[in-house]
Amino acid sequence: MSRSSPVLQFEVKGFHLRDLASYSPKDRSTVVEKVSKIEKRTFPSNEVFDFITELKKKNTNMILAVNDGDAMELAGYLVYLRTKRLALLHKICVVEQKREKGIAKAMIHSLRLHLEKGACQSIQLWVDENRKSARALYASCDFEQIDRCLDYYGPGRTGLKMQLNIE
Ligand SMILES: CC(C)(COP(=O)(O)OP(=O)(O)OC[C@H]1O[C@@H](n2cnc3c(N)ncnc32)[C@H](O)[C@@H]1OP(=O)(O)O)[C@@H](O)C(=O)NCCC(=O)NCCS
Repeated sequence: MSRSSPVLQFEVKGFHLRDLASYSPKDRSTVVEKVSKIEKRTFPSNEVFDFITELKKKNTNMILAVNDGDAMELAGYLVYLRTKRLALLHKICVVEQKREKGIAKAMIHSLRLHLEKGACQSIQLWVDENRKSARALYASCDFEQIDRCLDYYGPGRTGLKMQLNIE
C-alpha cells in the first residue's frame, strides 16, 4: 500500500476497506470496471463519473469497501481528490443490498483519519438537496452546509455544498 493511502479502519462485520492502489494492476482494472457498473446502475447518466479518466489524475484516490472473503466483491466506494489543505469528496456509493449497515460512514471516517495526519483542513462536497440518504449520511458525519445553488444538478435540482472541518 502506498504511503499516502487512507487509514483503512473498519468496524462493519463481514466487510473491510481497501485502497485501490493496494490491488495488482490487473485486479485494479477489474475493480474499476465493477465500480463503473455500480455507478451506472445508481446514478442518472449526467452524473455518472468517468473513473478511467478521473482516476488517472494526480491526487485522486478511491477507497473500496469489500467482502471479507473476496476482495473483488464490492460493497461500496468513495472517490476523493486531495489538494494540500482541502479534500473534495467526489463520489460515495454503497450497493443497494448493503446499505444502512454503516459502510458509507466507515469510509468517510477512514478518509477523515487519513487526512487528519496531514495538513488537510477540510472535506468539501456537493449533494443534491433531494438525496435524503446522502444528506442523512453527511449530517451523521458532522458535515455542515456552507452554500446552496439552485439548478446546480440541472433544472429544478438544487445542490448543497457541505464541509467537514477536520482540524
Ligand atoms: C448515501 C449512501 C452512500 C449511504 O450509504 P450507507 O452505507 O447506507 O450509509 P450508512 O449505513 O453508513 O449510514 C450513515 C448514516 O446515514 C443514515 N442513513 C443512511 N441511509 C439513510 C436513509 N435511507 N434514510 C435515513 N437515514 C439514512 C444512517 O441512519 C446513518 O445515521 P447514524 O450514523 O445517525 O445512524 C447510500 O444510500 C447510497 O449509495 N446511495 C446512492 C448513491 C448516493 O446518493 N451517493 C451520495 C451522493 S454522491
